[in-house]
Amino acid sequence: MAEPPEPDAPGVTLWAWLPPPLTAPVYLRIMAKLPIEARIYVAGTVVLACAVIAAAGPVDWGVYTMLALLFLVCDAMPARLGVDRAKVSMSYAATLAAVVLLGPGGAAMVAASALLTPQPLPPVKRLFNAAQFAVCGWAAGLVFQGLRPAGGLDAGLIAPFAASLGVFVVVNLALITGVLLLTEPSAVRDLLREIGTLCAGCLGFGWFGLLIAAAWYVIGLAAPVLVLLPLFVATWAMAQVAEQKAAQEATLNVLCQAVETKDPYTRGHSERVSRGSVMIAEELGLSPARTEAIRFAGMLHDVGKLGVSTKLLQKDGRPTDREFAEIQLHPMRGLEIVGHIDFLDEALGGIMHHHEKLDGQGYPLGLVGAEIPEFARIIGVADTFDAITSTRSYRRARTIEEGIAELRRCSGTEFDPVMVEAFLRALTLKGWTQPPDPPLPSPTPIPSPRDHDDPDP
Ligand SMILES: [Fe+2]
Repeated sequence: MAEPPEPDAPGVTLWAWLPPPLTAPVYLRIMAKLPIEARIYVAGTVVLACAVIAAAGPVDWGVYTMLALLFLVCDAMPARLGVDRAKVSMSYAATLAAVVLLGPGGAAMVAASALLTPQPLPPVKRLFNAAQFAVCGWAAGLVFQGLRPAGGLDAGLIAPFAASLGVFVVVNLALITGVLLLTEPSAVRDLLREIGTLCAGCLGFGWFGLLIAAAWYVIGLAAPVLVLLPLFVATWAMAQVAEQKAAQEATLNVLCQAVETKDPYTRGHSERVSRGSVMIAEELGLSPARTEAIRFAGMLHDVGKLGVSTKLLQKDGRPTDREFAEIQLHPMRGLEIVGHIDFLDEALGGIMHHHEKLDGQGYPLGLVGAEIPEFARIIGVADTFDAITSTRSYRRARTIEEGIAELRRCSGTEFDPVMVEAFLRALTLKGWTQPPDPPLPSPTPIPSPRDHDDPDP
């Protein structure tokens, strides 16, 4: 059986990285672990790839060697396309250049160079990737060959090339979806959600194949260098963006840690609320950009606690009305702390309004129903569920079943029923890991009816 996703992974880990162009994690660690259907599928793809390569006619070995080397050089430098955990290599531009210069058989042979990729891949995944690329190159080559008008290299090649590029991407996507369906069915939905970004990048990069082919006719061996130099610069620029994103993430993590240092009983709370919010967002089919924003919002939803006295946050027992009023200021303080960070954008509404209630009894503004931003309605559900199912200074954690019952009880009054149902569906699908109990501060903890995150009794 395929291994289930890591329950503790933030968000859904679909793939570790994408080799060219649309490969997703195949999770084929060793063949023996695969279901029999997946083994047959992988073996069938490999046999098909071998057959098309065996049937390839004579090729220009000089051009083949140049393109195969180009493929491997590009494959060593996969580029991020703004999709987490996903990278796309430009190496398939070499395959598409082979479609023009060598035909279907030659394109399959160049694509099969993926077998020698410098990327650290398990052998079965390496074999499957090479085979499926070979099949993609062959299919794209057939289309190009069938549509290519008689004559030399001119504008008449653009439409046939566009068709072959489209076929390459579609066949690639179909083969990857197939293997995911057999090994990790839950990952298919995640793949489809991010497929728009990936397809746009792949289709864009793919045109470099035609450029390489055209330049080859004019300047021969220097063509790859001429075409790929600016491409490598673009890849470098994208890597800088990815690094900047990582730095932003590290900064947000520091803020979360600062909050949790003030209140050890909420350790890991921000991360779990973030994960729960992402589960809801994915269930609702929010775009990748909005899902990323809700992840940030979940992480930072209680950042305003930095402005609340540590003594009060760590107090055992029920806060006085005055103290509770001070705690209730934390959504506004959160906005003051992170409100100037541009990239948080829609997340800010989630941070500021995560304690609003559907019936208008929440804070800070007492918004009602749809007046409450969607992000805040999402975070409210994840926040409360984690608060119920984790231990606080004055009470032990309740069970997941009790947390579900509480969400259902307050659905429609405190929580948006759409968000509650989405969370419960995601919970059934992906499960929930409760945090371990921290030691209670005293042998006889003072009982208290509620924390600021708890729903009304
Ligand atoms: Fe809060």
